[in-house]
Amino acid sequence: MRILGIETSCDETAAAVVEDGVRILSNVIASAKDAFLWSGGVIPEEAARKQVECILPVIAQAFSEAHITHEDLDAIAVTKGPGLLGSLIVGTTTARMIGAIWQKPLIGIHHHLGHLSSTWLLNPTSQAPCHSPKFPILTLTVSGGHTELWLRTAHTSGKLLGRTRDDAAGEAFDKGACLLGLPYPGGPAIAKAAESGNPNAFAFPHPLHSDDTIDFSFSGLKTSLKYLLRDLQKNTSILNSQFSIPDVAASYQHAICRHLCDRTMRALTQFPNIKEIHLVGGVSANTELRSMMEKSINGERETSQRASLPTRQVTVRWPTAIEYCTDNAAMIAAAAEFLVAERGWPTARSATDPSLPLTDMVENG
Ligand code: KG4
Ligand code: ZN
Repeated sequence: MRILGIETSCDETAAAVVEDGVRILSNVIASAKDAFLWSGGVIPEEAARKQVECILPVIAQAFSEAHITHEDLDAIAVTKGPGLLGSLIVGTTTARMIGAIWQKPLIGIHHHLGHLSSTWLLNPTSQAPCHSPKFPILTLTVSGGHTELWLRTAHTSGKLLGRTRDDAAGEAFDKGACLLGLPYPGGPAIAKAAESGNPNAFAFPHPLHSDDTIDFSFSGLKTSLKYLLRDLQKNTSILNSQFSIPDVAASYQHAICRHLCDRTMRALTQFPNIKEIHLVGGVSANTELRSMMEKSINGERETSQRASLPTRQVTVRWPTAIEYCTDNAAMIAAAAEFLVAERGWPTARSATDPSLPLTDMVENG
């Protein structure tokens, strides 16, 4: 199928055309992030006003880059939640309008089902052969609003193993950047500052270290950062040193990634049949997280070999380009393809819902 995806759950206005859930014919994103650089986050009304202005031009550009017209479409997929209410309304109302006029079926998609599908998207600029992911998969969804670990047996079946008890991983980056005086979004800003820093310069706590669940917690790390900066500020000679901010950023980033990897490895040991680990959502763009997760898997394999225990091959995957990690419309079109393949065409009109639970689309299984 050829599906037009529309995504407007936060500050971005995105449209994409995807074939068979994997081939990207176009992927257009107009982001309002520059408008929020120094505000520490998105201002919802401001985001929705910008989305009203650019939604139709963005859709037109998606058609033009895909070299198709609306007649070549099989369906329209749109994010129906969760997200900012005003922003979601811009996307869903536009989708309903063009769906009715062009007489195309409409598929409402949960934003996180989109992220879960993002690892299937092929990179149109890469020649590397890509093997399709194999279930069962352990998926770590790490975005600005959510941190969840899913055990998935199919695109739309799985179990939620754990979630954050307070802040999301992306929120920890965003709030940490704010404390460090770095711009929004905080993840890329901290990652950049950390490039020249020492990740072992400052010690951060291990959240939920002796807790038996697979839950996450980031608010303690943020508080530790706050107190570390307060203590450093008392000693101005340390804070004025040009290496100080990169060292703090690298140590903080290291602590966030270590927590994400520790909890994922704990889940992996409980489910020996897992074939792949997927990292999705904005924070999956983080290179420290990717390399730490791969090292953790290799470490587990070496430990099993040394103990003469059976070793297993677990593939770690993340989206094939940065623009498929952060919010985009290609993942929404991909999710719609897989949803229809596993559950059939939607029979009821879907409602826009800013706090839609993922269990609306992923069955226990
Ligand atoms: O998935 P996403 O684009 O939007 C949501 O659904 O929330 O994720 C945005 C989050 C932000 O918190 C941003 O700081 C974080 O992803 N992020 C990163 C990186 N790029 C984006 N965090 C760490 N490292 C990055 N390179
Ligand atoms: Zn997202």
